Amino acid sequence: MSTTETGHAQQDSYEPSEEFVAQANAGKELFDAADADRDAFWAEQANRLHWHEPFTQVLDWSDAPVAKWFVGGKLNVAYNCVDRHVLDGHGDQVAIHWEGDPGDSRDLTYNDLLAEVSRAANTFTDLGLEAGDRVAIYMPMVPEAIIAMLACARLGLTHSVVFAGFSPTALRSRVDDAEARLVITTDGQWRRGKSAPLKEAVDEALYANGDVPHSVEHVLVVRRTEIEIPWTEGRDLWWHDTVAKASPEHACTAFDAEHPLFILYTSGTTGKPKGIIHTTGGYLTQTAYTHHYVFDHKPGKDVYWCTADIGWVTGHSYIVYGPLANRATQVVYEGTPNSPDEHRHWNIVEKYKVSIYYTAPTLVRTFMKWGHTIPGAHDLSSIRLLGSVGEPINPEAWRWYRKYIGADKAPIVDTWWQTETGAIMMSPLPGVTATKPGAAMGPLPGISAKVVDENGKDVTRGDTEANGYLVLDQPWPSMLRGIWGDSERYKATYWEKYAEQGWYFAGDGAKIDTDGAYWVLGRVDDVMNVSGHRISTAEVESALVGHRKVAEAAVVGATDDTTGQGIVAFVILKGSAGEVDSDALVKELKAEVAREISPIARPREIHVVPELPKTRSGKIMRRLLRDVAEGRELGDTSTLVDPSVFEAIRASK
Ligand code: PRX
Repeated sequence: MSTTETGHAQQDSYEPSEEFVAQANAGKELFDAADADRDAFWAEQANRLHWHEPFTQVLDWSDAPVAKWFVGGKLNVAYNCVDRHVLDGHGDQVAIHWEGDPGDSRDLTYNDLLAEVSRAANTFTDLGLEAGDRVAIYMPMVPEAIIAMLACARLGLTHSVVFAGFSPTALRSRVDDAEARLVITTDGQWRRGKSAPLKEAVDEALYANGDVPHSVEHVLVVRRTEIEIPWTEGRDLWWHDTVAKASPEHACTAFDAEHPLFILYTSGTTGKPKGIIHTTGGYLTQTAYTHHYVFDHKPGKDVYWCTADIGWVTGHSYIVYGPLANRATQVVYEGTPNSPDEHRHWNIVEKYKVSIYYTAPTLVRTFMKWGHTIPGAHDLSSIRLLGSVGEPINPEAWRWYRKYIGADKAPIVDTWWQTETGAIMMSPLPGVTATKPGAAMGPLPGISAKVVDENGKDVTRGDTEANGYLVLDQPWPSMLRGIWGDSERYKATYWEKYAEQGWYFAGDGAKIDTDGAYWVLGRVDDVMNVSGHRISTAEVESALVGHRKVAEAAVVGATDDTTGQGIVAFVILKGSAGEVDSDALVKELKAEVAREISPIARPREIHVVPELPKTRSGKIMRRLLRDVAEGRELGDTSTLVDPSVFEAIRASK
């Protein structure tokens, strides 16, 4: 964002309307309460949940950086998300309006959800699974995916959801790392009205590496597209032969507040994804708290729609756990925004009278490209609040979103958080905070964040030139508890940079304007953000050098009008590659990356170059490659061994 744009945006501030303030869940007193007594504040938020056994201590930080929240407390996540609403007399309320890609739909009430989750829990128990075991879930957006997650939570099984767009290789590495005993999948998945195989990928993953043994005992398959699938007798089971026939009654037990709820893999700065661990009490407290106040959610009245996929943390926290803990009625949509045409989302909003809509900036920019006449053809008057997540939202997209989707009055909550934080950390509070296009505004009540320089000194407000880093200087309930199987990496990744101060380093650059509003500027490490998905440069580089003709690869994220960042790769070929048709090779390499990681990681551009720019110590100068990729004048090249490499690199573009 240019300084002038930022300058302009800073003038451009939207106060909450009186009408909104009058009915808002949050008031200024929330900040006062959190400031007055942080522990008491979080205890109060935790007590919005049902505890089978009350906690005796709010926070134990003696083993930092591994926190224990709500010490001694016991609860069951599924009970909180389902049973208690039924017991409170809301069993007939719709929990999920599910909308399938080809146009089929299904409503599940809280009664239905309780029966389905209980059936799945009984089946998992029959399969011999016990609390603490890991289950991999590799599914499209079908209700059974949510049911499977809740059934795991009900039994204290730790789930690891793997995005159904990931490759068999990616699935296998996650299954192996977590030693999952069960994989749950579907026969196929619908994509723009066409059926594509999915179970096949599970088989490929489990047979990958030849005969190397794996931990999986069973593969449970939901029938979705009726596509032909490979079958292994004894190992594979149909959902409709097992879960559907199991008893709909299941008495749950409670688990310790620190029992691991799930592992979710995310990209870091190395090629190996990190299994982020989240636990039970603190995670559910903060997801429910933020969902209630940030989205101003009114149970039984609002129709809430978060467009994320359960394969990402947004789907975990703001489709499954937060909303269901708050007794939401929500839309869950299986398909893409342009299937069968670009009206799909607005048809769904009209059909269910969606009142809260939470999506990613990349989608807002796509809608902008399609043109405002598309949403303009629909009655969107049910919408009263809009949300954004995944990357900084550019002010132009923000203003468009408010004007054409929010009828120029719906507040926009720009929510900053991460897989690691588990729940929203910074966001305007609707009804309290004035919003500025492009700013996450500030930490929520109970959360503490700072923007500091390299040495940990606060950056000056309004200093647009400072390289500020975003840090979290106090533990928070839904914080990650570690990286699965690698506690050293946990400490090194997040806690080393500001070890002296004991702060968590988020990996994002940020600044604070003269009004004290926080602006998150994006990653400062080698993590790219493509359409709100985190992808590490190292992962893509390692997929590229896996090709027999590639000697070396360097990958950077370059600004992209639609996807935020696009992946741009520079590769050097092996001497043995001989004469190559570079167009054909580039195509092959793009396909290779899509196959190895996922289609979302397919590079936008690949350039075959004779050399990569390196410093004398052999480090690739990514900053300069980014300059090239974004068509800028080169920055300082004085530390390069051979500054002339750029002529050759430019010539190859
Ligand atoms: O760079 C920040 C960006 O997304 C990163 C976290 O990615 P992930 O763990 O995949 O979680 C995405 C969904 C929570 C952050 O480090 N990011 C996320 N939300 C915002 C954002 N950047 C700016 N503004 C946001 N609202």
